[in-house]
Amino acid sequence: MSGNANQVELYNEKLAEIYDKIYHFKNYELDVAYVLNCVRQRLPEARSLLEVACGTGNHTGGLSAAFQLGGLELSPAMLERARAKHPSILFHQGDMIDFDLRRTYDVICCLFRSIAFVKTRENFRRAIGAMARHLHPGGLLLIEPFFTPETYWTGQVKMNFLDEPELKIAWLYVSGRDGDLGIMKNHFLVGCPSGVEHFTEEHKLALLNRDDYAAAFEAAGLDHEYDKVGPGNVGFYIGYRRTDSAAP
Ligand SMILES: C[S@@+](CC[C@H](N)C(=O)[O-])C[C@H]1O[C@@H](n2cnc3c(N)ncnc32)[C@H](O)[C@@H]1O
Repeated sequence: MSGNANQVELYNEKLAEIYDKIYHFKNYELDVAYVLNCVRQRLPEARSLLEVACGTGNHTGGLSAAFQLGGLELSPAMLERARAKHPSILFHQGDMIDFDLRRTYDVICCLFRSIAFVKTRENFRRAIGAMARHLHPGGLLLIEPFFTPETYWTGQVKMNFLDEPELKIAWLYVSGRDGDLGIMKNHFLVGCPSGVEHFTEEHKLALLNRDDYAAAFEAAGLDHEYDKVGPGNVGFYIGYRRTDSAAP
């Protein structure tokens, strides 16, 4: 049963269709290199990895060169694109808050701030618990966080453009806030030779601090360390499933 059913419509067909285009500026190779380095330093014998909230599979190629890879993703439209790009990888449709793949991995990662889509602290604890249950004893959980309640900004309008001969995209958003929930009201204007379309998608993202991570990792039977840089300069949490911990 999904604990996040009200977000099932996120990353729907319209957004999935332009997702890789709107993030044309993101360097996925750097993220992959960061993850590989992190794992090599801590668990060089790691062979299997699950990428949670894998989106359209932009980290997948790089990670699958090093690991037996699996992917988990909530949005069917994003998943469809990941499967088309990487037909030999096993992708699962599921909610990170509550999933059971009936197997464990050496490493689990959740990148590009996707963890924040859980929205609430309770869902966050459940998601960390579900990921921890899918780790071998001694396995690693790597989480790239979103902003904290202290670092999140509001009240500015942001804009990104794509300008190709047959595709123009303007993406504007204003960041709002409701307590410890960041609210991004995304507007997309997409133009191609057949016409121009406007659509919106609102994203609600949990603002979690280091104490929230410490509490969730502890409850899930994980030790952890915090790397204040991480692949995207927003920090990185590295959890270790204790070898003596029963499945949380
Ligand atoms: C910012 S995108 C990142 C996608 C991919 N990791 C990347 O780096 O391109 C966030 C992703 O999280 C997925 N997502 C949101 N909530 C989720 C949940 N509860 N369980 C699994 N995936 C989820 C979304 O569908 C979307 O694909």
